Amino acid sequence: MKELKNNIVKAILKKLDEVNPDHGFHAEELIQYLEYPPDDKMGDLAFPCFRLSKALRKAPPMIAASLAEDFLCEGIAKAEAAGPYLNFRIDRARFFERLYENITGGGKPYGSKTDGEGKTVVLDYSSPNVAKPFHIGHLGTTVIGHSLKKMHEFAGYKCIGVNHLGDWGTQFGKLTVAYRKWGDKAAVEDKGIDELVRLYVKFHDEAKNDPGLEDEARAAFTSLEHGDPEITALWRWFIDISITEYKKTYKQLDIEFDYYTGESFYTDKMPAVVEELKEKGLLTLDDGASIVDLEQYGMPPCLILKRDGSTLYPTRDIAAAIYRKKTFDFDKCIYVTSAGQCLHFAQWFKVLELMGREWYKDLVHVPYGTVSLNGEKLATRTGNVVLLKDLFAEAIEKAAAIMDEKNPALKGNKEVAEAVGVGAVVFYYLSSNRMRDINFVLEDALNFDGNTGPYAQYTYARTCAILKKAEQTEKAFSDQNDDEFALAKTLSLFPETFDAALHDYEPSIITRYALDLCAAFNRFYHNCKVLSAEDGTTKAQRIELVECTNKVLASALELICVKHPEKI
Ligand code: ARG
Repeated sequence: MKELKNNIVKAILKKLDEVNPDHGFHAEELIQYLEYPPDDKMGDLAFPCFRLSKALRKAPPMIAASLAEDFLCEGIAKAEAAGPYLNFRIDRARFFERLYENITGGGKPYGSKTDGEGKTVVLDYSSPNVAKPFHIGHLGTTVIGHSLKKMHEFAGYKCIGVNHLGDWGTQFGKLTVAYRKWGDKAAVEDKGIDELVRLYVKFHDEAKNDPGLEDEARAAFTSLEHGDPEITALWRWFIDISITEYKKTYKQLDIEFDYYTGESFYTDKMPAVVEELKEKGLLTLDDGASIVDLEQYGMPPCLILKRDGSTLYPTRDIAAAIYRKKTFDFDKCIYVTSAGQCLHFAQWFKVLELMGREWYKDLVHVPYGTVSLNGEKLATRTGNVVLLKDLFAEAIEKAAAIMDEKNPALKGNKEVAEAVGVGAVVFYYLSSNRMRDINFVLEDALNFDGNTGPYAQYTYARTCAILKKAEQTEKAFSDQNDDEFALAKTLSLFPETFDAALHDYEPSIITRYALDLCAAFNRFYHNCKVLSAEDGTTKAQRIELVECTNKVLASALELICVKHPEKI
């Protein structure tokens, strides 16, 4: 549709030039005015003339009427004035021929872009805190982050995925103490993160009655900071155990990180930051702690050093950003975290600005809302947590049970059950705008008849099955009935949908598009015979439509990290 819109605008400009060369309108502006009429009967596209009225000193209906006269534009069958609107009818056969070429013509996938070529984007996402549960609150950063990575790749950017693990801080002192007192090597090796979390929780329980434990933990962390070999080895081991387990979940999602550089990686890079802040006169002492005062920017101070001189979360983020700029020379660095961290990012972005780092403008924080499960709020503190791996396991198990019933031929196929179970969770999560608070209901996510991942995957599998049966036919492009054309139009909206999703950092725009595409396809498939169509031309054209749906739906699902098996 983008191409056609460009053609229309060119034709309008040509007409405007003829009447008055000084009209002052540009293509970029006019293209924004084009609309999809609410009712297909009015036209396929419409151009409202209101905003032209002032400059042209003519009433909008008159402008529409004069533009309609002998309107010539490739791909447009008819242009008609209706009051202040100029309504267009698309030349269906010609439109679909161009669309088919664009979708199947080889080369780059339809809708992908080259805007990002030569540019680098760093994406910081997922980033769980070691020794704390990797729970469904992390689903957002993990799948939104990865989807944004795919989207930027689709737009031509070179992307670098960084897992900024929470692998530094006093919790490691606690964990070390807990492990030495109550831990056991075999149990950690066997149960992994679950055992680390158990030890961590036990520490807190015991510390309630034995405050001395907190001191021990602090001392252990100080030893870690000073490089005590034994504690360092333990710490490294806790992290390795955790990463190995995270990787299992990432694999189910087809996620690979380029770097697992957690917070500890920046330890030796922070003194220089503190030094620079001092030199630039930005640090103030506040009750022994070092802060950057942000009062005049309407924010609480950004904490840089604690009273005992140890660094904090913002200090590490500042050091990490400077390191990444130097190392990757990024054009954009994206951080995906829960909305609870908005202030944290606003604060340290401001500090970088005050430090004179002009590129602070290229840092983007992408926040998202909370998630509850079956209406219940989840909170680590109250112990009401659901681990991501458990949620996936349950989804896979339920998906397998449904599929065994629906498609016995695939009974026991683990790969497909995993794709459907995990895909259902991701699709459901990415269906809502990221800032909305989500209530997760697994049964709804797995409903094959709802607007869900399995429904989209099922539609995709259906296109595969039809294409497999369709023998090679001649290509044909003739007039289309309304269902065929509605599908073609939906297909043609993919590039502009992708643009909008990329612009807003909003994968859900693509998820909802995938649902629209499935709906248009299933209506078409319900109303139009494909393989048993009346005549050769109709059949050929319908197979082409299936082929296009297959390609575009695959791209859409890939962008939102949902796998699409050929059979489900
Ligand atoms: N580990 C943090 C958490 O779980 C998220 C880290 C996000 N990235 C960053 N550069 N601050 O809340």
